[in-house]
Amino acid sequence: MPNVSRRRFIRAGMFGLGGIYVSSALTGCGGSDDDGPELGLGRFAHGVASGDPLAESVILWTRVTPANSGDESVRVSWEVARDQAFSDIVTEGSGDAHISRDFTVKVDIRDLSPDTHYYYRFNTATESSPIGRTRTLPQNTSERLQLAVVSCSNYPSGFFHVYDAIADKELDLVLHLGDYIYEYGIDGYASEEAEQLGRQSLPAGELFTLDDYRTRYAQYRSDPDLQKAHAAHPFLVVWDDHEIANDTYNGGAENHNDGEGEFDERKLAAMRAYFEWLPIRPESAATNDDLVMPSSIFRQFQWGDLVNILMLDTRNESRAKPLAIPDYFDSTTGAFDFEGLFGDINDSSRELLGPRQLDWLGSALATSTATWQMLGQQVLMGRMYLPFAIATQQMSIPDYAELAPLALLAARAQQNDPTLTEEELAYLQANQGKLTPEVVALLQAPGIPYNLDAWDGYGAAREKVLQLARQANAKLVVVAGDTHNAWASELTDAEGTPVGVELATSSVSSPGLEQYLGVSPQAYAQTEAGIVSLVEGLKYMNTGDRGFMTLDITHERIDARWEFVSSIKESDYTLVPERSMRMQVDADTSASLVAVTS
Ligand SMILES: [Fe+2]
Repeated sequence: MPNVSRRRFIRAGMFGLGGIYVSSALTGCGGSDDDGPELGLGRFAHGVASGDPLAESVILWTRVTPANSGDESVRVSWEVARDQAFSDIVTEGSGDAHISRDFTVKVDIRDLSPDTHYYYRFNTATESSPIGRTRTLPQNTSERLQLAVVSCSNYPSGFFHVYDAIADKELDLVLHLGDYIYEYGIDGYASEEAEQLGRQSLPAGELFTLDDYRTRYAQYRSDPDLQKAHAAHPFLVVWDDHEIANDTYNGGAENHNDGEGEFDERKLAAMRAYFEWLPIRPESAATNDDLVMPSSIFRQFQWGDLVNILMLDTRNESRAKPLAIPDYFDSTTGAFDFEGLFGDINDSSRELLGPRQLDWLGSALATSTATWQMLGQQVLMGRMYLPFAIATQQMSIPDYAELAPLALLAARAQQNDPTLTEEELAYLQANQGKLTPEVVALLQAPGIPYNLDAWDGYGAAREKVLQLARQANAKLVVVAGDTHNAWASELTDAEGTPVGVELATSSVSSPGLEQYLGVSPQAYAQTEAGIVSLVEGLKYMNTGDRGFMTLDITHERIDARWEFVSSIKESDYTLVPERSMRMQVDADTSASLVAVTS
């Protein structure tokens, strides 16, 4: 972390993030606050949200738009009830939405009953917020958990139909794995059709300051589909890179340069806005006079004896600077330094979780007696090694699909393979000219990871996690976002021992591989089959559809479904059953994925 000591960073953070309005004054465990000041004047333009449920508590959130522009504070009340009509109120209270927290309100409701649904709303003097529905975690035993997994919601890219779809589902929880917002300006990433869609980014510039990030959150939270999803289900959120800047690591980001000011200042502004606007519980609650910074977001949610959910921070806790493929090409000869690349990938000093998070993870895995151990985290853990020619974009997938078998034929002919047919020999003769020495060298090169910002770029760090899971004899299920495509992989350690599975969601709206590879919808199926056949351990992928994943979990199995929306560019949508996918993980073969046709 350049120029800022760890100590100064934390102290600056305490100042910056202390505005999070979870205070003893706002702990909703008592009765009504009759002696408090009268309720203020304001509207609820950004909906309500709940998150981080525990067995007896849950975080409730809203934001007030003051009626008078000069107001610095608006008194609000909240009510929590067992029924939607609010005839059976279990707790209520009041507090101030203050300008220092961008008029956001966060309340940690306590003393609730485990495994119970609640309805909640906020009130000003003249208005009530929309009603939200939330729930607490089961305490001891549980037979079932139904959750949705989403990530990568890019406002200018298209409509948030995915949020509308999950709002309508029967679910216990929603896991949002990051890229809840994007930091780019009005002409930035995925904004080509934003004007036409009426979804141009606010503010117009890239986000740097606290005001910038707040304005962007306010825009995203003005979206009715996102408001509907938050009101329907409690969320467990973690940030990925775009909540700060593209490809963030501990001390910098790809999308941050020296001319853009101190990275740590930007990071603190981004984190502060995140804690203001998302229904996440700070590491410890404090009164407003005793400010405490949540210095990390890795945390545990125990769904009875069924699932131990461990939300990880692979972004801001300890991540070493990502490696970059171009750095391993010799600038004079063009030769690729495979030894250097694999040496760096397997360098155990390059952290992704860091020692503090690893210690916590190890003991959380070792002490849990739940049937399933779930890691809710940002980036793909599965080994996504592609042929060198494809990973370095020196050959397209169709060209590779033609040339690799041709090279095999040539090798067989050279060994005088007697099983070669006349047709094969004729085909070889007609096409041999394509196998130039350069092409043959490319085809013979070892496979390399296609994305070094994912766990693939931190092989030693990944191995530490997989060994912790093995030692704990865990039935390991990793869920991931980040790539904007759906994936399912069987995870093995460096020795090839099966350890668990990874289930990864597509994006809410950010474009995926179809854009990077220029694949048309007609070619999706072929591309998917091609990539699945090239990557060991990969069992499924989706190339070009926006969607979400739901997991229906019992002690016997996990039923994973990927569902996709017909369009994010049209204001109406349907779910597309032909593109959906279903896979199961059985508890007794928990490192294997089985496709289910239904
Ligand atoms: Fe993303």
